[in-house]
Amino acid sequence: MSQNWWDNAVIYQIYPRSFADSNSDGVGDLNGITGKLDYIADLGVDAIWISPFFVSPMKDFGYDVADYRAVDPIFGTNADFDRLLEQAHARGLKVLIDMVLAHCSDQHPWFVESRTSRDNPKADWFYWLDPKEDATEPNNWMSFFGGRTWTWDTARQQYYFHNFLPSQPNLNLSNPVVLDAMIDTCRFWLDKGVDGFRLDAIHTAKLDNDWTDNRPRPRTDGIRPEREFDYQAQDSAQLNQPSIQILSARLRELVDGYGDRFLMGELDGEDAVAVSKTFTEPGRLHSTYNFNLLRMEGSTVAEVREIIGDLARNFNDSNAISVAWSNHDIARVYDRMKRRIDVPEAYADDFAHMLFQLSTSLIGSTCVYQGEELGLDDADRLTRDQLQDPWGVARYSETFKGRDTCRTPMPWTQDQPNTGFSGDDLVESWLPIDERHKSKGGLDQQGKQGSMFERNKGHLSWRREQPALTHNGQIQLIDGGDNVIAFNRLSHDQSDTMLCLFNFSSQTQSVEGVDIPPWSSAFR
Ligand code: BGC
Repeated sequence: MSQNWWDNAVIYQIYPRSFADSNSDGVGDLNGITGKLDYIADLGVDAIWISPFFVSPMKDFGYDVADYRAVDPIFGTNADFDRLLEQAHARGLKVLIDMVLAHCSDQHPWFVESRTSRDNPKADWFYWLDPKEDATEPNNWMSFFGGRTWTWDTARQQYYFHNFLPSQPNLNLSNPVVLDAMIDTCRFWLDKGVDGFRLDAIHTAKLDNDWTDNRPRPRTDGIRPEREFDYQAQDSAQLNQPSIQILSARLRELVDGYGDRFLMGELDGEDAVAVSKTFTEPGRLHSTYNFNLLRMEGSTVAEVREIIGDLARNFNDSNAISVAWSNHDIARVYDRMKRRIDVPEAYADDFAHMLFQLSTSLIGSTCVYQGEELGLDDADRLTRDQLQDPWGVARYSETFKGRDTCRTPMPWTQDQPNTGFSGDDLVESWLPIDERHKSKGGLDQQGKQGSMFERNKGHLSWRREQPALTHNGQIQLIDGGDNVIAFNRLSHDQSDTMLCLFNFSSQTQSVEGVDIPPWSSAFR
């Protein structure tokens, strides 16, 4: 099996609004990222993935694209992107960009034209359906962000379909002209030299005309789900339809023409493993982004072990999987994990470091979210009136504050105004910087012996030299007792092995003759 650069890569996810603000307008930008490439390269990751920075009305903060070929002025210019790419490559960093192919913005000229009439040239670029006889929606599907997947348009006297916000209409990718247009968009960025794509919510792309109603999700525990969306079983035609593989195949054909470009699909489903396998059959995507560690309620040690076992059973040797423990859509990892695992405060940093080591010791690639390297807490002290995420704003509850708590600006250094995010104290950043983050700035931690940054950097630098962890291969779980996650990592040809041990308790544990200090890992 030949090794691709992404097979066991560590990919650093950047949420551009919140990373670094070079022009002090309160919002992060591309030049801000370029200014921090030395920091990222120093951490020792292989690649960066930048969340969308294209022209957008920002209803979903960039995941609603109005021009796929232009950088939004708030983030800079196309020339800024070219410079970022060149500077990243000069430091040996690969660059993945986030392509949103399933839907665009309702401000995109395609949709603006499409909604004007039933017979304009773009009339069938989106899914327009007539109401039922009684004027109600064409089917019973619910949107991820609440409410129906249907919005009525007065000009056309029809409903249009959207899996997310009403301002994010699904593209009609069953129309070959639309499919070609999206492939051309990808080609545009490949020609610039990007190293691949994170494919946003690819399981929600629609390439067919099956509108079968969803069934109610069977509920055995009697508990009502928090979201309307979760009342329905997702096994009819809303998500993960076989026709999406037409898109996967087209994308693969495209990137194969460039060589060495990576396709990582974000998806989920009733049976995420089965879906991931379908998406990564030969001639399709290289990898899919796995959600199993991204549970809102956190996971117990036993559950983490189960998730790892599941990865091993299904993806050993193929490595066609990308894991993540944090991202821009969910509360930060340490806080989520502490909901289920009782970590004494004195060990908080050790715990954070151990989770970082664990997630970068699995098979496949690992996505690390900005700030994870610093051990940032979730910014859960945001008040309701500070929230910006449309989902959080609309659906706020005791238990759901939306996605802003992981999106607050990165802290850089206490020596500068605004902790170095904007470099100007008069500027109010789009979300406030969390008070607890101010003493954890990235530049302040960099070079400081024993800091979380240096510990994680040290681990990545050691990891790079370990063929057992970086040459594809397998995970073989072994019994380490209730409090230890224990497995062997094997390189693909099995000539290298590494015993990986993670102690989730305050007592030293011993496995296979190796002592593991409290809340620490051991590798042999
Ligand atoms: C992204 C979200 C976004 C959604 C719709 C995702 O899964 O990660 O941030 O809101 O797709 O584009």
